Amino acid sequence: KKGKYSHYMEKEIYEQPRSIKNTLKHYLQKNNTIYFPELKKNNIFYHAEHIQIVACGTSYNAAMVSRYWFEALANTPCDVEIASEFSSRKLAVKRKSFLITLSQSGETADTLSALRHSKKLGYLGNLTICNMEGSSLVKESDFCILTHAGIEIGVASTKSFTAQLTVLLMLVSKIANFKKNYLVSKNIIQVLNTLPDKIEEILKKNELIKTIANKLSNKKNILFLGRGEQYPIAIEGALKLKEISYIHAEAYPAGELKHGPLALIDKNMTVIIVAPNNALLEKIKNNIKEICSREGIIYVFSDQDFDYEENINIIKLPYIEELIAPICYIIPLQLLAYYIALSKGKDIDQPRHLAKSVTVE
Ligand code: M6R
Repeated sequence: KKGKYSHYMEKEIYEQPRSIKNTLKHYLQKNNTIYFPELKKNNIFYHAEHIQIVACGTSYNAAMVSRYWFEALANTPCDVEIASEFSSRKLAVKRKSFLITLSQSGETADTLSALRHSKKLGYLGNLTICNMEGSSLVKESDFCILTHAGIEIGVASTKSFTAQLTVLLMLVSKIANFKKNYLVSKNIIQVLNTLPDKIEEILKKNELIKTIANKLSNKKNILFLGRGEQYPIAIEGALKLKEISYIHAEAYPAGELKHGPLALIDKNMTVIIVAPNNALLEKIKNNIKEICSREGIIYVFSDQDFDYEENINIIKLPYIEELIAPICYIIPLQLLAYYIALSKGKDIDQPRHLAKSVTVE
């Protein structure tokens, strides 16, 4: 039931503090350790020297974020590939590589066929991170971690994305612990405990985002930029927008701007930037200057102040720990996409040509 909400997508966005709490509750124990029932101590998974993730759409974007985490926090090399590409090329499998499939539905044909394909290729084993108990991916995988986001009805995936990221970050903590990096492992758990409240705080920016959405609803093109683990967040923000508002949206790593997309910038181009305070902030500020001097219209989501420039709009977010910043920064972008589509009067829960679960290749 939608209750007080107009659309399932809206309900699912606002539900996220609760759905994440639920995900955490399933795996976080009282003594602040993580327990995945299917990945017991010394499971073969922990002995992997490489992780290969395959997924589609929003699940792929979640996997892309986790790649930064696996490598930076757990020192585990990780590659991510779109499922349909993975199963249609000749692969050279890395030594002691473990395969992870990521899916909300567990029925995505491309991801399922990638899993089947991988079984012929000599991976150490496979794990699915999935929202649907009893789904095909769950049945056909060696191991499974359920995301417990609750049923997601809106075609545009929202709460299952943040639940996937929550599980992935817990998985990174488990690997760090296995590798005796106890500090990182503990720190992740501590910060994850603050996540539901942080998201609650960010959701309070909804009125401001609604006003921005009304200004952007007549745009034909919007560019999204991010750096580091915020780059996949920019991709996911662009995907949400194009899916439900039919506005052409593209995402780039901000560093790529001058390698091509800068040519698109003029006074008609809107650029949305996710720029939390981290080591990459100074570089993002340079990108902002490049866009300003070409009169692009900028909306920056940040917990930082920027020097005032005429065409910059700053959406100030509360201070957010770097570890959970990607999970938090997608929230305003989901709201933005939702309110833009709403002001355009689109069929938000059933966007044209799309299905909730894509069961054909
Ligand atoms: O069920 P899955 O997570 O495997 O689905 C993958 C994609 O089809 C899905 O994320 C799609 O991109 C969504 N409509 C995005 O909002």
